[in-house]
Amino acid sequence: MSTRKFRVGLIGGGGIAQAVHIPGWKNLPEVEIVGVADLSAATARKAAALAGANEVFTDFHDLLKLDIDAVDVCVPNKAHTPAVLAALERGLHVICEKPLATSTDEVREMGELADQKKLKLMTAQHQRFTRGAVAAKAWIDAGNLGETYHARVRAMRRAWLPPAPGFIDDKLSGGGPCMDIGVHALDLCLWLMGFPKPVRVSGTSRTMFAKGHDMPNLWGEWDRERYSVEDFAAGFVHFDNGATLVLESAWMCHQEENEELMAQLFGTKGGIKWPDARFSNVVNGTFAQGNLTHPVDVPHPHWNEIAAFYDCVVNHKDSPVPWTETVKVIGILEAVYASAAAGREVVPTV
Ligand SMILES: NC(=O)c1ccc[n+]([C@@H]2O[C@H](COP(=O)([O-])OP(=O)(O)OC[C@H]3O[C@@H](n4cnc5c(N)ncnc54)[C@H](O)[C@@H]3O)[C@@H](O)[C@H]2O)c1
Repeated sequence: MSTRKFRVGLIGGGGIAQAVHIPGWKNLPEVEIVGVADLSAATARKAAALAGANEVFTDFHDLLKLDIDAVDVCVPNKAHTPAVLAALERGLHVICEKPLATSTDEVREMGELADQKKLKLMTAQHQRFTRGAVAAKAWIDAGNLGETYHARVRAMRRAWLPPAPGFIDDKLSGGGPCMDIGVHALDLCLWLMGFPKPVRVSGTSRTMFAKGHDMPNLWGEWDRERYSVEDFAAGFVHFDNGATLVLESAWMCHQEENEELMAQLFGTKGGIKWPDARFSNVVNGTFAQGNLTHPVDVPHPHWNEIAAFYDCVVNHKDSPVPWTETVKVIGILEAVYASAAAGREVVPTV
């Protein structure tokens, strides 16, 4: 019997890779991370040491020459597409951090290549693996919400602006809070709504605080010259089934909470809020409300996301976060920016 493990290459060994991806892979006994590629040799070495990997590269093309089964892409947003496409071209399955790409054209290019080569491609939307999300999804799938006619999505921070260039430089990130945290709450909300097709979007995208010095940042100083993304965005979305959605996203704003990451769905039979899975409805003419609690605790949503990717590859299942869903998320965010630039409602390209 073969003892060969499932072999993974890691592209990008920085913050998220070290904090959650490497521990997530190490949690799977059938898996080994064999190599790490990072533009910074020191970062690649540090991540490889954590991962127990022997091979270290500064060019991911060299990593792709190894005998591996899959790659995990953890580089800044704008560097996702070339890494994912190169890995797919090599015949490798791919899990990639969010946002998979910052344009629908790129998402489609990756997705169509994966489909053509019969490879798995998964966007790392770990919020779908949180306890509240699993509970809310099961409750909705059982028919408790009825028809969803409206939703609210908030990804709003008081003063948590990520200072790294990979977030604040548009050339590296392709967007501010919309692409960083808005993408989490929007993906979660659309997943709970069953991914209706967005048909019209009106948006605004502004830099209200990040170019100035009045707002303190809980994550320290940042380069105001290099800052080239929005720090606030909002959008109003119409779907082909008549449903609507309001989206708000900010790294800085005057609100009491340090962070509010939430989705709220309004249905004809009930309503529900994520992340705490609080529901409300009417039972026998009586108002009812409460919390849903999924019986299985989910201590590590990121680890579960990685385990789900591994499971879909080895057991030939569908991708848990397929590109056909991601393209609608990115289509809405792209349309928010396009509407803000054009000063009018736009039709998303999805
Ligand atoms: N899911 C989450 O909760 C979560 C949280 C944080 C970040 N992220 C996402 O993870 C990605 C990385 O973010 P991070 O916080 O780890 O950033 P980071 O800056 O800490 O790490 C990124 C690493 O990628 C390397 N890199 C850049 N371009 C490269 C290239 N072409 N080839 C190889 N290495 C390259 C950099 O040297 C750096 O070490 C981003 O897409 C971000 O949106 C997700």
